[in-house]
Amino acid sequence: MMKSEMENDILKVLVTEEDLQRRVAELGEALYQRLEGKNPLFLGVLKGCFVFMADLVRACQLKCDVEFMALSSYRNATVSSGKVEISRDLHQDVAGRHLVIVEDILDSGTTLAFLKDYLLFKGAASITIVTLLDKPSRRTKAITADLAGFEVPDEFVVGYGLDYCQQYRNVPYIGVLKPEVYSG
Ligand code: XMP
Ligand code: MG
Repeated sequence: MMKSEMENDILKVLVTEEDLQRRVAELGEALYQRLEGKNPLFLGVLKGCFVFMADLVRACQLKCDVEFMALSSYRNATVSSGKVEISRDLHQDVAGRHLVIVEDILDSGTTLAFLKDYLLFKGAASITIVTLLDKPSRRTKAITADLAGFEVPDEFVVGYGLDYCQQYRNVPYIGVLKPEVYSG
């Protein structure tokens, strides 16, 4: 294994690289079955989606295009503020398009509940929500993913795109940080 200066900060691994690869391949296949012939638009929620989305679109050999939005309800903290702000809006018309929302983690549901309403308002023909991780124990909004990679316990997780204070996104697996990292 390659040496990593972040390794010392990781308490435990929740999902290994191998399990991520295997599951992403399954999700790609499932999306292909659902959306073949529909020329979907994959819409990633920045920044957390970037690693997962890169793997997912390649695991799913659909004819498609990609788009990104940036939304924030987290302000460098591990709890949601409950309010969603669009910091990067759509750069194209999505009316009539079959959308695949690609999210890193579905937690309280605040972000995706907001986004789904927004995209329906913009005239999307259909919306398929794919989340890498699902934390159903924390849900406060009535929203579920159409496809979810892994269910995770109520712990703050990092890696494979997910951050703590913008760091650890390049950890190649999903892990939990040591408590002393949060206390700084
Ligand atoms: P909500 O609560 O709106 O949260 O469903 C979705 C967004 O919150 C971020 N989030 C996390 N980020 N580790 C992270 O790095 C976590 O454990 C975590 N839980 C929520 C994430 O950006 C997600 O899009
Ligand atoms: Mg996110």
